[in-house]
Amino acid sequence: MEISTHFFNMHFTISIMLVCSKFRICHARDTITKDTPLYSNETIISAGNIFELGFFTGQVDDNRNGSFVGIWYYKLQPRTIVWVANRDQPQSLDSKQVVFIGEDNNLHFTDKFTRRNFTRSSNTTAKLLDTGNLVLIDGQSGKIWWQSFKHPTDTFLPGMKMTAELELTSWIELSRPGTGIYKFKLDEDEKLYVIKKKR
Ligand SMILES: *[C@@H]1O[C@H](CO)[C@@H](O)[C@H](O)[C@H]1NC(C)=O
Ligand SMILES: *[C@@H]1O[C@H](CO)[C@@H](O)[C@H](O)[C@H]1NC(C)=O
Ligand SMILES: *[C@@H]1O[C@H](CO)[C@@H](O)[C@H](O)[C@H]1NC(C)=O
Ligand SMILES: *[C@@H]1O[C@H](CO)[C@@H](O)[C@H](O)[C@H]1NC(C)=O
Repeated sequence: MEISTHFFNMHFTISIMLVCSKFRICHARDTITKDTPLYSNETIISAGNIFELGFFTGQVDDNRNGSFVGIWYYKLQPRTIVWVANRDQPQSLDSKQVVFIGEDNNLHFTDKFTRRNFTRSSNTTAKLLDTGNLVLIDGQSGKIWWQSFKHPTDTFLPGMKMTAELELTSWIELSRPGTGIYKFKLDEDEKLYVIKKKR
């Protein structure tokens, strides 16, 4: 009797420990708020561990690498980047970088960041969804101000809309995220989606 109770307790304790450690693994945040900016030593991960947003190094030109902010599939190797925030504004690798929500409620990416006391007039949160969409949400109304799905880079993801405004533009090269010369968009005359080379 005593043994079985002891076994039960032990089993119970182990189960709790497993739940806790699982919880800790799953606990990575999926938001950037005014109080919690994102530094280059961290990433955010969508709630279901599908997508990750963070900093990555890419080639700027033949002699220079720079820092970019992007979204890629969580833990997928090789890393598959589906969106780049600053493809034509790379930051220097030497500087300390941070993505934060500014007083203007927009998302900023900079190397000149000083933490300030924000007015609490509004409460915007950037959230990375399991679809790969990064949304800027108004904390009070829940309204979506902005979303990366409406500003794609070179990748079409399920959930995006194929509208007349949709435009995907290639990277310059495999290792250079900057705006390249191939565009995927709707051809006005033909009513077809086409891939065009920029002249
Ligand atoms: C990341 O860097 C920031 C700023 O340099 C620092 O405050 C923070 O503790 C660091 N976080 C981790 C997890 O190392
Ligand atoms: C840029 O980064 C790549 C990959 O990390 C590396 O192989 C290359 O040598 C770097 N180039 C420069 C100019 O630092
Ligand atoms: C921010 O607010 C706190 C508490 O109100 C205050 O102690 C601190 O000095 C303020 N910091 C700045 C940079 O204004
Ligand atoms: C800000 O919004 C988040 C959700 O986006 C909510 O959890 C939090 O309580 C809000 N804070 C304030 C001060 O309104």
